[in-house]
Amino acid sequence: MRRRAEAARNQVAYGHDSVIVCDQVVRIFTADRVEVQALQGLDLLVRKGDLIALVGASGSGKSTLLNILAGLDAPTAGAATVAGCDLLTMTAKERLRYRRELVGFVWQQTARNLMPFLTAAQNVALPMQLNGERWSAGRAKRRADRAGELLDALGIAHLADRRPAQLSGGEQQRVAIAVAMANNPSVVLADEPTGELDSETAASIFEAFRTVNRELGATVVIVTHDPMVAGEVRRTVAIRDGRTSSEVLRETLTDEHGQKSTSEREYVMLDRTGRVQLPREFLAALGMEHRVAVDLASDHIAVRPDEREGDA
Ligand SMILES: Nc1ncnc2c1ncn2[C@@H]1O[C@H](COP(=O)(O)OP(=O)(O)O)[C@@H](O)[C@H]1O
Ligand SMILES: [Mg+2]
Repeated sequence: MRRRAEAARNQVAYGHDSVIVCDQVVRIFTADRVEVQALQGLDLLVRKGDLIALVGASGSGKSTLLNILAGLDAPTAGAATVAGCDLLTMTAKERLRYRRELVGFVWQQTARNLMPFLTAAQNVALPMQLNGERWSAGRAKRRADRAGELLDALGIAHLADRRPAQLSGGEQQRVAIAVAMANNPSVVLADEPTGELDSETAASIFEAFRTVNRELGATVVIVTHDPMVAGEVRRTVAIRDGRTSSEVLRETLTDEHGQKSTSEREYVMLDRTGRVQLPREFLAALGMEHRVAVDLASDHIAVRPDEREGDA
């Protein structure tokens, strides 16, 4: 008994070193008495300071997940915490503070990110004003300074006095990233932020997210269809049918001659109960279904087709 209690105490909490922790997150929508399970027990850990891409077919649950992480929607079941905030049990007041101070959000629709009647600099200063501090000349100056610094960091200081209508789509998205960073959030979430842009502009937006990640220290999660984007990040997580199904990790290696090369490996997720989702094409290649034989070797586990017949 005592030993078991000790073991429980020594067991490190799931995701203790992660800024985003999703543990078996379920989100069910009910429309016209039909249930849609948008998320079906999704697990995801993201470490502080990471920049990751989320990919997946349309309808796989990417936006549902991002809306939950943004504090705009709540899971039906499971556990989700971001920067230590429990997204299931937050009060309305905590939720408001969470959305204003702990996360930043960039939407695909450029128009949705910015106030049309404010300049770029005013748009960036706005979330700081909403922070609840009373007005003072000193605070107003500090906000204007920070807005200027953010625009500068993103290479658009010269656009500070323009309104959104006077900016290109790519410029608007860069301002939107500055807005998302205004209150120095722990996490920046972006749902297909380059979806309305040509590939060259998309590359510059991506560079802006990288700057935010590397120089301003934000953890960044980007949902994207863009294979180029996915090819540039260290970690790409794929969502399939409302679950994280696989991920690709990339590493840049430098050899003895200073030549750089990237190595890339795809992994499938192993959930906490020991389940893995094998790639469909692997299963099809060997005709595996229903039941497989699993054998332990010294350094791997072999999964083989069930060869016994008539015993089903
Ligand atoms: N508000 C909603 N009401 C009903 N069904 C929804 C709602 N939002 C999303 N869904 C459904 O949940 C599934 C996942 O949607 P979504 O998260 O938007 O996917 P993705 O962003 O990966 O394309 C889809 O089947 C979608 O139709
Ligand atoms: Mg979506």
